[in-house]
Order: sequence, then structure tokens, then C-alpha cells
Amino acid sequence: MPKVTTIAELRHYQLQNHMHRSWGLVPTMGSLHEGHLQLIKQAFQENKVTFVSIFVNPTQFDNKADLDNYPSSINKDLQKIQAIDPNICVFVPSVETIYPDGAAVKKYALQGLDKPMEGRHRPGHFDGVATVVERLFTLIQPDVAYFGQKDFQQLQIVSLLGQSMGIQVFSFPTIREQNGLAMSSRNRRLSPERREEAKLIYELLQWTKSNFSSHTIVELKEMAVQKLAKTQDFELDYFEIATEHNLQTVDSKKDGMSYRAFIAVVVDDIRLIDNMSLN
Ligand code: PAF
Repeated sequence: MPKVTTIAELRHYQLQNHMHRSWGLVPTMGSLHEGHLQLIKQAFQENKVTFVSIFVNPTQFDNKADLDNYPSSINKDLQKIQAIDPNICVFVPSVETIYPDGAAVKKYALQGLDKPMEGRHRPGHFDGVATVVERLFTLIQPDVAYFGQKDFQQLQIVSLLGQSMGIQVFSFPTIREQNGLAMSSRNRRLSPERREEAKLIYELLQWTKSNFSSHTIVELKEMAVQKLAKTQDFELDYFEIATEHNLQTVDSKKDGMSYRAFIAVVVDDIRLIDNMSLN
């Protein structure tokens, strides 16, 4: 399987394949789970050349402990990609390759998409995401890039970035564990008990969806907070309902608008996020 780590190796591989368009890219931070594998399979089916990048991007972590504890399993990741197809090119750059001038983050004008929810609770996070994704797009030059809907706010932001760079962004619905918990690399840090309890996040989103037409947004938010407060081990970072097109959080509904619920919960220092379309 082609595995490239330097820009020179990447250029060499790109030159060898320049006749074979289109190119698909699945950017990841490794510790691949079924959600990533679905994106990679999709990219492989839809493109002549598929790149998977594995890079734990330090500039998108607002919390050093979260970065230090981020799981890593490069050999297993390579085996999983190889099992999909040995022709997939894996790009595993060093921090110096991505940030040759030091880990500097650019400031982006993201039409307010970066302000609520994750943006409010993790200052600088989306500038870090946009910086690394722009760098990966520039280096790899894909036609299409694939992202999961679990990080829905990130998806909207990278779609905007993709638009400005002439790169299509495709998304794939969240893949869930059997109990409904959204798949995430961070889940492997959960104890079996917490992993089971964490199904509450999905249940809460489903409950909000089922009750969306019969309750006001203020009621839904209050009830969600109350339901979560019953589980001592879970600390709610936020529960918000936002308009789907611009992700602005709202306290009342308007006819003809699409809404989505967003939640972030911390359990045993592990931050879990999820979201669900409501109408
Ligand atoms: O979703 C992720 O894994 C990361 O935020 C991404 C898009 C690979 C950028 O580091």
C-alpha cells in the first residue's frame, strides 16, 4: 500500500497518477472506526485515486490533555485501510510537514458558522481545523473530500472552505454503535459502563426529535438539561437547537426552517458530541 510521509513522496505519487482523475481525500486523525471506514469505502468507489490522511492536528485542540490523550493506532489503521484496498494512498505527515513555519493558525472569516456551540466552547478550534484542512487540500489537491456528519459544524465549515478552493465536500451520516452512541475515536477511552451509559446522548436527541412539533424550543432545552442532570457522571457542555443552514442557535421556531439539535457532554474527561436533524 502506498504510504507517503513527505511532500516529495506525495508529489512523486501525484505525478505517477496525474492521468487518473478524479482524486478523493478522506482527512482523519487516525484511530479509525467504522465511520471513517465508510467514508474511505465511499471515496474509493467514487474516485480513481483515493488519499487518506492521518494527522493528529495539534492546533485544533484547545485542551492539551485532550491532545495528549488522543488515541493513536497507526499500524491497525494501515491494516484497516489495506483491507479496503491496497491501492489507497495513505498520507502520514509530520507536524513539520504540515506546519513548516511552526504551528501557526490562520484566522478565517467563516460566516459566523464557527461562533456557536463548538466554537463557543472550544475557542480557536475551528481556525485550527480550517488551517489544517486548507493545508491538506492544497497539498493533496483532491477533487472531492469526505467528512462525517457527526461533526456537523465542522462539516459546514469545511464545505465553505471547499467551495472557496473548488473542492467538493461530501458527507456521510453518523455511524452509531449498537446502543446508538455516535462512533468516535474518543469512544475507545470510555469504560464499558460509561460507553453503555452514553447511549443517553442519542436517546436525548431522539426524544427531542419526537417531541419537536409538540413543544417549544425553550421547553425542549429545559427538559434535555433535566434529563441529563439525572446521570451524575455526565457533565453537559451544551445542548442547543440551531437552524440547519447557518447553525445559529435559536429559542423559537419559524415556519419553513430546518432545525438540528446539537449536544456536547463530558464524561470521565472525555468529550462526546452528537447532533440530529429535527424536522
Ligand atoms: O474530523 C477530524 O478528524 C479532524 O477534525 C480533521 C477534519 C481530520 C482535521 O484535523
